[in-house]
Order: sequence, then structure tokens, then C-alpha cells
Amino acid sequence: MIKTSFPLLTIRGKTVLPVFQGGMGVGVSAHKLAGSVAKQGAVGTIASIDLRVHYPDLLASSNKSRDPEVIEECNLQALDREIKAARTIAPDGFIAVNTMKAVASHAKLVRQACESGADAIVMGAGLPLDLPEMTDGYDIALIPILADARGVKVLLKRWMRKGVKPDAIILENPKYAGGHLGATRPEEIGHERYDFAPLLAGVNKLFDDLEIERIPLIVAGGINSFESLQELFELGASGVQLGTAFAVTEEGDADDVFKQTLIDAKAEDIVTFLSTAGLPARAVKTPWLNKYLKREDRLRALAAPERAKCAGWAECLSHCGFRDGNPDAGQFCILKQLEAAVKGDYEKGLFFRGSEPMIFKDKIHPVYDVLEYLLTGNKAA
Ligand SMILES: Cc1cc2nc3c(=O)[nH]c(=O)nc-3n(C[C@H](O)[C@H](O)[C@H](O)COP(=O)(O)O)c2cc1C
Repeated sequence: MIKTSFPLLTIRGKTVLPVFQGGMGVGVSAHKLAGSVAKQGAVGTIASIDLRVHYPDLLASSNKSRDPEVIEECNLQALDREIKAARTIAPDGFIAVNTMKAVASHAKLVRQACESGADAIVMGAGLPLDLPEMTDGYDIALIPILADARGVKVLLKRWMRKGVKPDAIILENPKYAGGHLGATRPEEIGHERYDFAPLLAGVNKLFDDLEIERIPLIVAGGINSFESLQELFELGASGVQLGTAFAVTEEGDADDVFKQTLIDAKAEDIVTFLSTAGLPARAVKTPWLNKYLKREDRLRALAAPERAKCAGWAECLSHCGFRDGNPDAGQFCILKQLEAAVKGDYEKGLFFRGSEPMIFKDKIHPVYDVLEYLLTGNKAA
């Protein structure tokens, strides 16, 4: 394990380096990335959404299907394979599975992750108030992703009534993170209630007010230096989560075109927009997104429930603006765009990315270099 002066974390009896690799769908953080991070002693996370993308046999048996249950079954099989493959890379490592509350099959994915031997469920994209029920009977760490103190309070009160407390809480700042953002409206992304300093102080005070032991707080969004870790630990964080920096590592499960697109993006190429889940999201303005944003207003004005249907037959989201013909959300098939991105289709893909500069701006580096720099300050050439 890399030697660091930052305190290690112990979650459900497993001691880990205080760095989480964030879950990244579709297929961006699968077994190779999560297993490699876990092998180094940090927390590796498999994103559970549509892992079929890595299995030609499962794609072949479900791609032509118009039955969401067939597609769902293939995704559960893919998740099982991915967890077992990550475990082969890191037999004793800490392997988490990320599930999004907004995904229709989230409860089934959670059960599959429990059965396949994951160490933790990390759940975001919605308030996971019923996560304890979903994991009933399993000894697995429960880690919600939240954005503000209000969300933490609501969740804690609900979970504590059931006698459950989170094993850690990820606090993700929508101002900087990649993918779906935890702000209800795009204009709220920069709100100060998401800033790490007041948020860490507020949540730690909440623990004191509730007279409970402090739960490890893992901060996420825009973290890209050893110095930021020093600062965040001083502010009361117990760990950090990074997405973008791990997505572009050698071991990242996406195509190299995906990684290079994220690395090459300049500040002005990174935009926020409204996803089909109705949440703001952050991505690189590549050709498809550029074209979509030009037509967005017109497509939203045309959206109507009578004409709408699921373009991919996967029924992936509980509420999809495109499938439901809801003009208050994005109008495209998010699954198709994200699948194109992970396979390296620069023209058609949707490339999620955080807002801040890369740790290594020149080329793709191994996971070890990212962890070594974050934890020691030593930066590989
Ligand atoms: C390509 C990409 C895909 C992501 N997909 C997911 C996801 O499926 N579920 C989730 O909870 N967060 C997702 N995220 C958020 C990350 O897990 C992480 O918390 C966030 O990106 C941290 O910000 P950073 O990228 O600035 O480090 C994604 C981020 C990226 C860049």
C-alpha cells in the first residue's frame, strides 16, 4: 500500500487509503479500473448501469430485444461478471458498486451487487432513502452520495429510524463534478451551500447535534492535487472521491478516444446542460452535444407524451424526458449516447467530464501515478 501521511479509513472492518474512485457509467469504471484501484488499497467502484456494453455475447442476446426485462437480465449478468473479475484483480481489495436511484432497475442492481460479493453500495442521482431495505440481510457498507447538508439531514433521520447509519457519505459538489449533478436546477449549480468548507462544517455539526459519532465524509468534485487533499482534510474531510482523473488512466475501461477527448478538452469545451433524467449534467462539447444543444429548445418544445416512446427499449431511467415526452428534461437517448462515448465514437458520443484541469495534462498514466501523487505529492514525469 502507498505510504501516506493522510489518515487511513476503516469501513466495515476493511482498512483503505482515503481515496475513492468514483463510479462512472456507462462502462467507464468497470472491473479493470475498479480492480486496479482496489489492488492499490484505495476504493475501486464499478458503475452498475448497462455493463452489457463490455460483453458482446450479452449485447447479441439483448440488443434486438424490445423487452426491458431481457435487457435488465443481461445487465445483471454483466454486473455479476464485472464484480467477480474485479475481485480476481484485487482479491482483498475494497470494491464498491455505484447505483443511481434514478435508474429504474436500481433495486435489482443493488441485490445483484450484494449477491456477487461487493463491499459497498454507493448510491446517488436521487435520495436513497430506502437503500437499507434494499440490502436487508446482507453485510455490506452503505454509502449515499449527497450534495448538501439538508439532504444529509433528511437521509440520516430516515435511516436512523430504521436503526441504520451510513458507513460513509460522499459529498459531491455540482459546481465541479462530472456526469449528473446533485443540484435540482441548472442555475443552482454554483450555490454556496455546496462549497466544501461550509458543507463539511455544517454536516459535522449535524452529527454533533444528533449526538452521533462522526461518519466519514468523502468529498468529490474537481479534486486534482495533493494540496487540495491537505486542505480538505484540514476542513474535516476523511477522504476524497475523484472521477475524471481515474477515467483517463491506463486501466480505465473506456476506449482511448474517450480518455483523450477528456484530456484534450479545454475549459471552454466543458458545459452543463439538462439531461434526460431532468438533472443538470456536465460533459465535453463534442460534435453530438454541440448539435443537440443547438436544437434543444426546439426538441423540448415538440416533446409530447402521446408521441413519446423508449428509443432503446431498455427503459433505463424511472423518469426519462425523452421516453415520457416531458419538455422539462433533455430529449435524447442517454444510453445510446453514453454507449457511443465509451466505445470511442467521438462524433456520436456523450463524454461526461468534471470541470477542472487534469492532474496529468499530457498523456494517459496508470492508476498508481494518480494515487501516488494524491497521497504523497510525488508526481510521475
Ligand atoms: C464519465 C463520468 C461518468 C460518471 N458516471 C457516474 C455514475 O454513473 N454514477 C455516479 O454516481 N456518478 C457518476 N459520475 C461522477 C463521478 O463518480 C465523480 O463523483 C465525479 O466525477 C467527481 O468529480 P471529478 O470528475 O471532478 O473528480 C461520473 C463522472 C464522469 C466523469
